[in-house]
Amino acid sequence: MRLAIYPGSFDPITNGHVDVIARAAMLFDKIIVAVASNEAKQALFSMEERIEMLKEVTGQFENVQVTGFEGLLMEFARRNGAAAVVRGLRAISDFEFEFQMALMNRKLEPSIETVFLTPREEYTYLSSRIVKEIARLGGPVDAFVPKPVVEALLKKMRIAGRRAEWEV
Ligand code: PNS
Repeated sequence: MRLAIYPGSFDPITNGHVDVIARAAMLFDKIIVAVASNEAKQALFSMEERIEMLKEVTGQFENVQVTGFEGLLMEFARRNGAAAVVRGLRAISDFEFEFQMALMNRKLEPSIETVFLTPREEYTYLSSRIVKEIARLGGPVDAFVPKPVVEALLKKMRIAGRRAEWEV
């Protein structure tokens, strides 16, 4: 049983993440999508909201499970008996951070490999940060995130007192 962890902030999940999950689900027997609590980052969505959205969106994959985690990724991966950690690599700009993280994680746990997967070209410019910015400024995000996430973003914007122009 080859298990891989796909960790991230997923604040919120984008079509690029879904694409990586689909690819990973074909390569491994089981994928645990692990949502980091990451106190350092001010998240728009709570841990529960992010997990809820991920569960809804990944329901189509039989071998994908979603959970949250706190603390070191490698501790979590080891506890779950993972063979690998999956990360998406979009562009050269991702490389430096990802390379540093992969090597540090290898130092912490040499038996767990980091595997990089590239999403479809049309998702290479996508990021959760940019999607949130577009949504905050009233732009359309339905081409970038799954439907439940579009709705969740609209709800957040409504709560923030900003009705998106394109909602009607
Ligand atoms: O989606 P992100 O924000 O790029 O994901 C980064 C994440 C959550 C994978 C990374 O910050 C992480 O692994 N956090 C857990 C804490 C940890 O293990 N830090 C050491 C990494 S070398």
